Amino acid sequence: MSDRPRKTAADLRSARWFAPDDLRSFGHRSRMMQLGYAEEEFRDRPVIGILNTWSELNSCHGHFPERVKDVKRGVLQAGGFPVEMPALSVDESFTKPTSMLYRNLLAMETEEIIRSHPLDGVVLMGGCDKTTPGLVMGAISAGVPMIYLPAGPMLRGHYAGQILGSGSDAWKYWDERRAGKISDVEWNGIQGGIARSVGTCMTMGTASTMTAITDAMGLTLPGASSIPAADAGHQRMGSACGRRIVDMVWEDLTPDRIVTDASVRNAAIVAMATGCSTNAVVHLIAMAGRAGITLQLDELDALGRVTPLIANVRPSGKDYLMEDFFYAGGLRALMKQLEDRLDLSCLTVTGETLGAGLDGAQVYNDDVIRPLSNPVYHEGSLAVLRGNLCPDGAVIKPAACDPAYHVHEGPALVFDSYPEMKAAVDDETLDVTPDHVMVLRNAGPLGGPGFPEWGMLPIPKALIAQGHRDMLRISDARMSGTSYGACVLHVAPEAHVGGPLALLRTGDTVRLDLPNRRLDMLVDEAELAARRAAWTPPEPRYARGWGYMFSAHVTQADKGCDFDFLESGFGPAAGEPDI
Ligand code: FES
Ligand code: MG
Repeated sequence: MSDRPRKTAADLRSARWFAPDDLRSFGHRSRMMQLGYAEEEFRDRPVIGILNTWSELNSCHGHFPERVKDVKRGVLQAGGFPVEMPALSVDESFTKPTSMLYRNLLAMETEEIIRSHPLDGVVLMGGCDKTTPGLVMGAISAGVPMIYLPAGPMLRGHYAGQILGSGSDAWKYWDERRAGKISDVEWNGIQGGIARSVGTCMTMGTASTMTAITDAMGLTLPGASSIPAADAGHQRMGSACGRRIVDMVWEDLTPDRIVTDASVRNAAIVAMATGCSTNAVVHLIAMAGRAGITLQLDELDALGRVTPLIANVRPSGKDYLMEDFFYAGGLRALMKQLEDRLDLSCLTVTGETLGAGLDGAQVYNDDVIRPLSNPVYHEGSLAVLRGNLCPDGAVIKPAACDPAYHVHEGPALVFDSYPEMKAAVDDETLDVTPDHVMVLRNAGPLGGPGFPEWGMLPIPKALIAQGHRDMLRISDARMSGTSYGACVLHVAPEAHVGGPLALLRTGDTVRLDLPNRRLDMLVDEAELAARRAAWTPPEPRYARGWGYMFSAHVTQADKGCDFDFLESGFGPAAGEPDI
């Protein structure tokens, strides 16, 4: 497939550090020797950076210290020279206020680690939610050959004979506990059983969605995203990544040849068919943007309307988890069902086409990976709404909410902050009905700050006690990919910057019309104009540091929340260091 001449040792990027007979290169070589390497170990060989997002506070990447050894083994077998480089871990479980605040920091770090070091190619080790887009965005901008090694999902959760799904069952059983139906003993059992191996969340949450997207885009070995972290096949995939990246360097197979309009579209179709996390929208737009591809929300909505959801994996699917999805054939089998809809001519990291990577793929359980004729849901996973509440768009996951809310009109119950909302939902005397529309604002990219996953607003205790488990909720926040319910998210522009959500008042009527993709407040224009004139911008969230930089440069949800100055069109490419 390669249309570029094979590189020679003299063409290697690392040769600019190690080959010249000058004082700087003398320094580079002598410091490699200080590390214990003889010249023949690193000279004239592809130097492969293994960007490892491991930390002792990233429970999903707990196997990376072992897995990196598999990657190194593969690199050495193929004649390359592996170097492990730590990169920001961006763990989902512990990062406050939200890991999304740091996705772009990882992207910047990735790009600059690559640019500033003698690396010819990189293996990117990530998987926990933001690590996938962060690593991929940075590596696309850096432009050297790259291959993505997904952490792999954890095994199914278990407690007392019940299978437990990451996130989804935490929310579900928490509601039951709030209703007084779960004892301390049971709650502790669920706590110990819901995450029982290394690996990423094993529902089709943000982690599994983003690794599937990366796989479909051609940036992983075919089907790599489905292999459970604890499976021996995951180790073998690690060494295969190591072997393959060395050849990619010689073939000069750079990401701009893989990430194209067509491969981004493939990724979007696959995301819709898997029942993807709503976060996919933000990350896919940002990843594509790094390759100079503008992906519009409306294109995603159009693909969503015609792509059936065929992965019966929770939370959009009913019954299964990622481990079942792997046994059923994994992502290759799912893509095989979509063959007629995908551009199979796209190049992947294998140096062959996406279509070639699907050869022999087969579904082994057609209740888990459904045929197109028997989908879980007739349309795809996401719908994009417009209206006077969200002129720049909002998203909802139709398959994950009670159809009773697809067309709904009710009075707004508006909260300006998370603590205010939390106090209200815990108040058993709160004046609320199932028809109410709960609204949380000031929770967007700037307002949150950092666009937190607060969008699955808890159902008020007063309604839980009456047996209700869903209601229409609207916010400018995101929600976890493992969440579900009638939640409208990513309202843009956000309230913090004066989006119309800022003008809504408790008691106003809100109308959702999902079939027509509309979200409106039924408030007349003159009244809205008066409210707008009276609106004053809130205080900035940060006066210094990373948060200040984030606030100054982050784009809104519909643009992917990248930094304006990191987008591909912002200025000429940085080029190579010239000293
Ligand atoms: Fe890491 Fe869910 S917390 S993938
Ligand atoms: Mg998540």
